[in-house]
Amino acid sequence: MTDVSSLGSPEDDPQTVLTDRQGHPIYDNQNQRTVGARGPATLENYHFLEKISHFDRERIPERVVHARGVTSYGYFEAYGAWGDEPISQYTRAKLFQERGKRTDVAVRFSTVIGGRDSSEAARDPRGFAVKFYTEDGNWDLVGNNLGVFFIRDAVKFPDVIHALKPDPVSHEQKPARIFDFMSQTPESMHMLVNLFSPRGIPADYRHMQGFGVNTYKWIDAEGQSVLVKYHWMPKQGVRSMTEEDAANVQAGELGHATKDLYEAIRRGEYPEWELLVQIMADGDHPELDFDPLDDTKTWPEQLFPPKPVGRLVLDRTVDNYYAENEQIAFGTGVLVDGLDFSDDKMLVGRTFSYSDTQRYRVGPNYLQLPVNQAKKTEVRTNQRDGLMAYDNRAANANPEVNYEPSITGGLHEAQYPTHDDQGPEIRGRLTRKRIPLANDYQQAGQRYLLLEDWERDDLVTNFVNLISQCDRRVQERMVWHFLLVENDLGLRVGKGLGIGPSDVTHLEPLPGQSLTDEDRERLSRLG
Ligand code: HEM
Repeated sequence: MTDVSSLGSPEDDPQTVLTDRQGHPIYDNQNQRTVGARGPATLENYHFLEKISHFDRERIPERVVHARGVTSYGYFEAYGAWGDEPISQYTRAKLFQERGKRTDVAVRFSTVIGGRDSSEAARDPRGFAVKFYTEDGNWDLVGNNLGVFFIRDAVKFPDVIHALKPDPVSHEQKPARIFDFMSQTPESMHMLVNLFSPRGIPADYRHMQGFGVNTYKWIDAEGQSVLVKYHWMPKQGVRSMTEEDAANVQAGELGHATKDLYEAIRRGEYPEWELLVQIMADGDHPELDFDPLDDTKTWPEQLFPPKPVGRLVLDRTVDNYYAENEQIAFGTGVLVDGLDFSDDKMLVGRTFSYSDTQRYRVGPNYLQLPVNQAKKTEVRTNQRDGLMAYDNRAANANPEVNYEPSITGGLHEAQYPTHDDQGPEIRGRLTRKRIPLANDYQQAGQRYLLLEDWERDDLVTNFVNLISQCDRRVQERMVWHFLLVENDLGLRVGKGLGIGPSDVTHLEPLPGQSLTDEDRERLSRLG
């Protein structure tokens, strides 16, 4: 490498001399090389071409969803048990076992629909993604703040996102497109009642909950499984904003939530969340009025009491926004021993989508970047090469053998936990069918009734303001859904739109939609 100390002016501290990426000192960073002072420029201008062509490539594609976000670091501390019930009774995942055991984490909070520099006061679900750097490799828990989702089958994800994103012609976000899609998607009602209430605009990231949303499994040392749902509860409390609050915040600052998080951590006010899990026996549950693998549903807390399993503390901000926030990559497939997938049809689609988009967005070797590497265990793989591969260390004592099996050495498989063959047996025809028990309205109605008066008023005002901008057929269908959610909601939104129950009770259920007896009864009473 060039010794820059002999090349800079005597006053220069050699450590501060500007170089290019080849280590060449830069003598003139103000002027291109030209023929005479007024040009023309020459093409062998290596410093200029390197500088400008690197700049031309500074942006990678932003995330297709959750583009705006903020990452910080901290730790997860396990409780090891609840009361006298050890957690090992349900999972053998090492990070949960001992009381006081700490695991390093990176957490990224985000909004979903806006671009990388969009407003953090937008009405939008918030992402709550946690990467645990465990001794068994990384575990990502990629959740949101509302506990449920718009759809229950991953095949509809591009449609719901297209409807929510700006119009492809004028690039405006349009209520007409959003509610056109939602009016044809009855399972979205529970999410909509949450999203258009004040919960849809959290005051900032420190004051919001997080949820795994999808159903996962825990596996114990004998291979027995249970279904689980994850919840993050902020010690700081939950705070939300009305449209008016949000408009005021956003008038002065688009990134208020990022700023709030950074400033709190720098002041030493470390935000904290408790992790709770709900547990259900693995298998079918005909006794329930919802399907536990349906991510448009929550599990009633009276039946499945959330159990605290640990706490999360964030105590460090990133050093480099691009390297640690733009290039961090989370995915639902990233699990460790003792944690598993359920058959939730969203979860399987998500698990393909995350690493697929990251290979495109960041590059095929995105897992070699420091923020994404497994930190608490050694990586030994026969994966080789690819764009920007830099971790090309021989993976073992016999470096020629980058395949498996081999009798001459190389890497070998870990011992298979044979007892894991025990899970419930699954049988069925290959098919394309909705889940039999949709029950799209009941929990949305219960949620509506749980809102405080001012939250209900805000919800109704928001729906009326936005749905009034939609096609009349969309308005009628939305009122029909809201009447099925809860009479009061349907009547109030209908009144705001000038649509009475008798204008809509003649509507047939949507294609493929099956109403419960109670739903039919409710409509006939209104008609
Ligand atoms: C980000 C796909 C459902 C939470 C993303 C990204 C994709 C994606 C492609 C961008 C990832 C990246 O560029 O690194 C999907 C698909 C879904 C789905 C296909 C349904 C089939 C959900 C649900 C939740 C969720 C239900 C919440 C429980 C998140 C979060 C991020 C994200 C938090 C941001 C992660 C980060 O901070 O980097 N999703 N998603 N997604 N998704 Fe989903």
